[in-house]
Amino acid sequence: MDQSRARHVAIIMDGNGRWAKKRGLPRAVGHQRGVEAVRRLVRSLEGTGLECLTLYAFSSENWKRSEDEVDDLMNLMRRFIKSDLPEFIANNVKLKIIGDWQSLAPDIVAMLEDALAQTANGKQTLAVALNYGGQHEIARAATKAAALGEVTIGTIAAQLDTADLPPLDLLIRTSGEIRLSNFLLWQAAYAEMLFVDTLWPDFEPAHLSQALDDFARRERRYGGR
Ligand code: FPP
Repeated sequence: MDQSRARHVAIIMDGNGRWAKKRGLPRAVGHQRGVEAVRRLVRSLEGTGLECLTLYAFSSENWKRSEDEVDDLMNLMRRFIKSDLPEFIANNVKLKIIGDWQSLAPDIVAMLEDALAQTANGKQTLAVALNYGGQHEIARAATKAAALGEVTIGTIAAQLDTADLPPLDLLIRTSGEIRLSNFLLWQAAYAEMLFVDTLWPDFEPAHLSQALDDFARRERRYGGR
């Protein structure tokens, strides 16, 4: 396999609030424009050759935001699934959800289950992290591994939400912040990292292509020489 080609990219989509603030607009508008950036990226997925794109849409810590903002984000999720599901199906995009999404509002869980079933035969995976926290994911996976009788790196990895996805090659964070914020902690062990100043609503498919070109030029050693 061509080692320089990324198979799995994950993105911490940050900066919606600052994008809106800079323009004197409500945070909700920043999130709306953030969804549009997601849509553009998903539409460009085929051309990227990626097997999987994983997006951090709602962290387990995001519940600490105001009730209004949480409601806005949940409503955006409802609308996004409803409006874009036909496109996912038409474009062979397979939806996957990671995190504790089963504890979201029952109508969202039902919509997501339907979307998962309808896109099950898709070729490229769009993994959306919802109510996701990396430490919790590892704790859950280790508990399951222990219940099965053996705790090793391999048995934990096999119980992670991402067990069926290719290894994470590249993790991108937008908006100039340089931290992982509890995203894909285990999976990031050998991933390349890219921190860009672009605020998420301004992120274009061209930024992703650039990131993939950058990735292809990096030399990965996985601890060896
Ligand atoms: C960070 O911006 C972004 C989020 C907390 C949520 C990301 C969600 C979306 C892009 C929309 C929903 C996604 C889908 C897949 C429908 P921030 O509010 O932390 O920005 P700030 O740091 O500038 O305040």
